[in-house]
Amino acid sequence: MDLKLTGKTAVVTGASEGIGRAIALGLAREGVDLAICARRAGPLAAVAEEIAKETGRKVFPITADLTKAADAEAFIHAAAKALGRIDILVNNAGSAPGGTLEFLTEEHWEQALQLKFMGYVRCTKHTLPYMIKQGGGRVVNLIGNDGIKRSYWEIAPGAANAAGQNFTIALAGQYGKHNISFAAVNPGPVRTERWAGLVQAMARDMNISVAEADTLAPSSIPLGRIAEVEEVADLVVYLTSPRAHFVNGTMIEIDGGQQKDLMDRVRDR
Ligand SMILES: NC(=O)c1ccc[n+]([C@@H]2O[C@H](COP(=O)([O-])OP(=O)(O)OC[C@H]3O[C@@H](n4cnc5c(N)ncnc54)[C@H](OP(=O)(O)O)[C@@H]3O)[C@@H](O)[C@H]2O)c1
Repeated sequence: MDLKLTGKTAVVTGASEGIGRAIALGLAREGVDLAICARRAGPLAAVAEEIAKETGRKVFPITADLTKAADAEAFIHAAAKALGRIDILVNNAGSAPGGTLEFLTEEHWEQALQLKFMGYVRCTKHTLPYMIKQGGGRVVNLIGNDGIKRSYWEIAPGAANAAGQNFTIALAGQYGKHNISFAAVNPGPVRTERWAGLVQAMARDMNISVAEADTLAPSSIPLGRIAEVEEVADLVVYLTSPRAHFVNGTMIEIDGGQQKDLMDRVRDR
């Protein structure tokens, strides 16, 4: 299928590793020029160079900390200047700390909302005027199944995700008249660089071995495994394409049919 993405431009946040990196590579392979951000300049520049070399597309690495309002605004303006226009925004940078209510401090909650929610709000707010001026655009937000499949162990990501889901769907109602459409993608567990750290945190909080913690997520998924980054990236690349423009104001789960309450039951033992 020709996704009709060749010649488009996209902004992808948090693209120096994990799902964001796979999305950036997937888009570049479809002929899209990119502006990507992360906080650490070294890994970001290395990934930009690697993607540009493989695909022959332009990839502009721009450092930004999206928990800071000024950085997010400067990033979007710099991206628009470098690319000439912004056809696609993929909000992706957004981890939030797991743990129970007793474990979570004010700082954890602040951290969850500042990046996972406000980072998306800021980048979207500054991108929309460019899209309106151009006559249209596409916003795809990487959110997470914690927002709809609740777990008491992941209440901070869950709250930030629920806020992002609400935000995504609400904006679709307002900006359709400008030919801008919105979709949210809700992954379950995905094998990224962060995965090993998450398993260790689970083992710590539940007082079980790391080996046992590593079996928890796969055992809650009927398909018996967690997702690979490419599986999530393939869905996102399709959703950013003009072929999926009508998939608007909605969300798609990509979690292998995870039954999260099974994980909670193990934790309750
Ligand atoms: N992995 C999963 O299992 C999973 C499950 C459900 C949903 N998701 C969602 O999918 C998205 C991608 O997840 P991920 O696991 O690949 O990685 P992630 O931890 O969200 O992102 C890592 C990328 O974001 C950058 N980043 C981190 N903090 C940043 C900040 N304050 N400002 C700008 N960039 C920042 C990192 O580079 P620097 O460190 O250099 O800044 C890196 O490039 C996230 O929104 C996540 O919540 C992931």
